[in-house]
This record gives sequence, structure tokens and C-alpha cells, in this order.
Amino acid sequence: MPQLIVVTRNGEERAITGEAGLSVMEVIRDAGIDEILALCGGCCSCATCHVHVDPEFAAKLPKMSPDEDDLLDSTSDRDQYSRLSCQIPFTDALDGLKVRVAAED
Ligand code: FES
Repeated sequence: MPQLIVVTRNGEERAITGEAGLSVMEVIRDAGIDEILALCGGCCSCATCHVHVDPEFAAKLPKMSPDEDDLLDSTSDRDQYSRLSCQIPFTDALDGLKVRVAAED
């Protein structure tokens, strides 16, 4: 199974594995990392699954939808590597992806 590296808000790095086909948000949530609230359950309507992706992987991710872009605009910690983790399908091609949990709004 592909590996995902999650950097929590206190800077701790956790390497977890996740099933390809789940979203990155689901992989993080299933690993018990509760800093990702994912209040809308992955419907792209809450932004509580906001992460910053490693620049090395940014180009490998699917393009952002206008809805995701709008929602990220409502967050205070947005930067050029911001994504909503529920909108990133986790695949074998993303093995080793590193994401940092965004600051809480
Ligand atoms: S879980 Fe709500 S936008 Fe991702």
C-alpha cells in the first residue's frame, strides 16, 4: 500500500499507509489523526481537511476544481500548495506524498 507522510500542527511527522482509491483525507482520518476534522465528510463544502502538499508532489495531483479553489479562499492559511485533502484521490503514484495539516481557522 502506498505511504503517506503527515506533518501534524506541532511538527510531528507520521508515516502511514493507505489504501489506494481512498481520498487523502480518508487515509489521514482512518489513521486516527484527528487534526483533520473533515466535517462535511468529503463533499468539498467545509475546508476542515485543508493541507499543504509537498511542492515535489504538487504537479502530480489532479487539477483543482473551481469549488475547491473558492473554498480554499475562505481559509486563513492558504498558500500556493494548499489543497483540500478530500479532493485528492490517494494512488500508488502518490507513494511517499507528504502533507502538512493547515492551521486551524
Ligand atoms: S472534508 Fe469538507 S471539504 Fe474536505
